[in-house]
Amino acid sequence: MHEVKEVSKVEITYEGKTLTYPVIEGSEGERAINMGSLRKDTKLISYDPGFGNTGSCISDVTFIDGEAGILRYRGYPIDDLANNCTFIEVAYLLINGELPTQEELTDFSRILNRKSLIHEDMRNFFRNYPEHAHPMAILSAMAVSLSSFYPELDRPAEEEVNVAAARLLSKLRTLAALSYKQSIGHPHVYPSSKLTYVENFLNMLFYTPVANYEVDPVTVRAMNKLLILHADHEQNCSTSAVRLVGSSGANLYASVAAGICALWGPLHGGANQAVIEMLEQIHREGLTIDQCIARAKDKNDPFRLMGFGHRVYKSYDPRAKIAKKACEDVLETMGIQDELLDIAVQLEERALNDEYFKERNLYPNVDYYTGITLRAMGFPTDMFTVIFAIGRLPGWIAHWLEQRADKDQRIGRPRQVYTGPTKRKILPIDQR
Ligand code: SDX
Repeated sequence: MHEVKEVSKVEITYEGKTLTYPVIEGSEGERAINMGSLRKDTKLISYDPGFGNTGSCISDVTFIDGEAGILRYRGYPIDDLANNCTFIEVAYLLINGELPTQEELTDFSRILNRKSLIHEDMRNFFRNYPEHAHPMAILSAMAVSLSSFYPELDRPAEEEVNVAAARLLSKLRTLAALSYKQSIGHPHVYPSSKLTYVENFLNMLFYTPVANYEVDPVTVRAMNKLLILHADHEQNCSTSAVRLVGSSGANLYASVAAGICALWGPLHGGANQAVIEMLEQIHREGLTIDQCIARAKDKNDPFRLMGFGHRVYKSYDPRAKIAKKACEDVLETMGIQDELLDIAVQLEERALNDEYFKERNLYPNVDYYTGITLRAMGFPTDMFTVIFAIGRLPGWIAHWLEQRADKDQRIGRPRQVYTGPTKRKILPIDQR
């Protein structure tokens, strides 16, 4: 794959010279100007803060049409995957490019199970974190520390990719569960060879010696769906961080650890935690829906409608629809009436009919409903972004591998427009 075709040209006239640049087109009709020689030709660079108009790579992994609200992993629509596959099938698809056969899935699952333990010495790391250390801080540190225990996975050879990916997928899930147990002072729970990937995750999170935890199929199904919804999203902030760090030749763990840190921000993966904190604030302070909408629109008010808006989706995030349905199913099955869900639904209805939000194409994104579901499942809010990271891991691995194999990729090194002081002399300190 990785095919682009030249479909047109763009002319730039600058200082009396006219230069021509090719326009390339991908498999879904997306077009880009190939500006690879711009600076050499003109001494000009492009200036595009936030990279909203800049393509960093050519990729076969995920396609998003933000205007139409389309999301496909390797050509499969997100709702088809969420309703028909397990998270591990989708992880295999993202990393290998095809859904697994039964034999391939059995082999992959066998490796996941075999590699689910972490080195016993790594447990000692957990014991030295301060109480209630944020699990994302622990997870990122543990991710990069894996390279000290499993150096053979730093730069997996082609034939070992599935083993390396399965080991990282399995160990990071175990580490995420241990981070949670450590943060609440509970004994660590070991993975079991009798449970599937998600069943193991839930069991390691919620089993305690004094309250036997029964993994229920509704929660397993909902967690599979949530992880699938988060599995990839083309060149988002954290995936771009993974690619940028990986472009220097850094190993897979270091690149993933950078992705975890980027995801932590409240404007990105941390938004699911920020949505619940916003809904709890509204409930605690008794804010009316009108007050919330007015504050969200007030530039002088830091209050934002968290879980709303998206750099790419200028229509309803297709994942938000699926997440909302999964949320309603989980709450109904558990017999939970969550007033935060009521507030979220009312807020959504008002915002979708408000000119300010409509003019700016602000719709609920993937984070708007996932936090309510995770809360119903028993997760504390500071674990929400950890769940997002476990979901996004196969996407990060797929992009790191794709970049490593891309012959056109070089170390990422953007330019800048300098506006600091021009050349000046140093004065002796007694004259400054
Ligand atoms: C994720 O990139 C990805 O793919 C990310 C992600 C993934 O799967 O990897 O989809 C996951 O990160 C989802 C987004 C989660 N973040 C939030 O929910 C935080 C709240 N949303 C915003 O902070 C914002 O919408 C962003 C960060 C998501 C997008 O920011 P942009 O594209 O830079 O848009 P912007 O900030 O320039 O906003 C455009 C306008 C501004 O108003 P004006 O200056 O035009 O008057 O819309 C306003 C913004 O003030 N606006 C909001 C708003 N989001 C944007 N106003 C109120 N509430 C909001 N949530």
